[in-house]
Amino acid sequence: MSIETVERRSGPDARRILDALPDWFGDPVAVDNYVAAAEDTGYGSIVAVHDGAVVGIALTRRHFHESAELHLIAVHPRARGRGVGRLLVERVSSDLEADGCVMLSVHTVGPSFDNAAYAQTRGFYRKVGFTPLEEHDGLDWPGPTLILVRPLLGPRRRSGISPAPPRVAIPDEECRPE
Ligand SMILES: CC(C)(COP(=O)(O)OP(=O)(O)OC[C@H]1O[C@@H](n2cnc3c(N)ncnc32)[C@H](O)[C@@H]1OP(=O)(O)O)[C@@H](O)C(=O)NCCC(=O)NCCS
Repeated sequence: MSIETVERRSGPDARRILDALPDWFGDPVAVDNYVAAAEDTGYGSIVAVHDGAVVGIALTRRHFHESAELHLIAVHPRARGRGVGRLLVERVSSDLEADGCVMLSVHTVGPSFDNAAYAQTRGFYRKVGFTPLEEHDGLDWPGPTLILVRPLLGPRRRSGISPAPPRVAIPDEECRPE
C-alpha cells in the first residue's frame, strides 16, 4: 500500500481514528483532549494518507529546543501492522532532527499494569527505536506510566558526516616525568 505523510491538522480525522481504537482510547475526556491537541498550533501534526484518506496521525509537543514528546500516535485498525506507524515515527523524527532536536520521548502505560493492548504498543515502540527509561505511578493516570526515549541523530550524523572528536588540551607540565 502506498502511503504518504503530510503535515496537516485535523481534529475530525483524529477523532475518527481514536474512536476506532477503544482498547487504547476508551476514555471520552482523553479523546476530546487529543482531538483538541490535533487542532492546536502548539503541537506538531503529521498524518498518514492512503488513497486520499487519513489512516494515521502523530502529534508532537516541543518541550525544549533539544527535546520533544510524541504526544499521540494512532493508526486506524484497517491500516495497522503495515508500516504506517513506523513511517509516522520516522517522519516526525527526521523533521525534528532537521530542526536541531536530539531526543524524542513518549509516555505509555507501564508494564507493571497487565494489559494486552498496551503490551503491543510497548512492543511497537521498542521495535522502532525507543528505549524504556522510567516508570512512575500516577503520572498521567492513577496506574503506571512508562517513559521511553529515542535519541535523534541530527542532520550531520544522519548524512554520514561524523562530528569531529572533542579536542582535549593537556597542560605541558602534566606530561613531564618526575
Ligand atoms: C502502535 C501503532 C501506532 C503502530 O502502528 P502500526 O502501523 O500498526 O505499526 P507498524 O506496522 O509500522 O510496525 C512497525 C514495526 O513495529 C513492529 N511491531 C508492531 N507491533 C509490535 C508488537 N506488539 N511487538 C513487537 N513488534 C511490533 C512491527 O513488526 C514493525 O516491525 P518491522 O518494521 O521491523 O517490520 C498502531 O498499531 C496503533 O495505533 N495502535 C493502537 C494505538 C496505540 O497503541 N497508540 C499509542 C498509545 S500510547
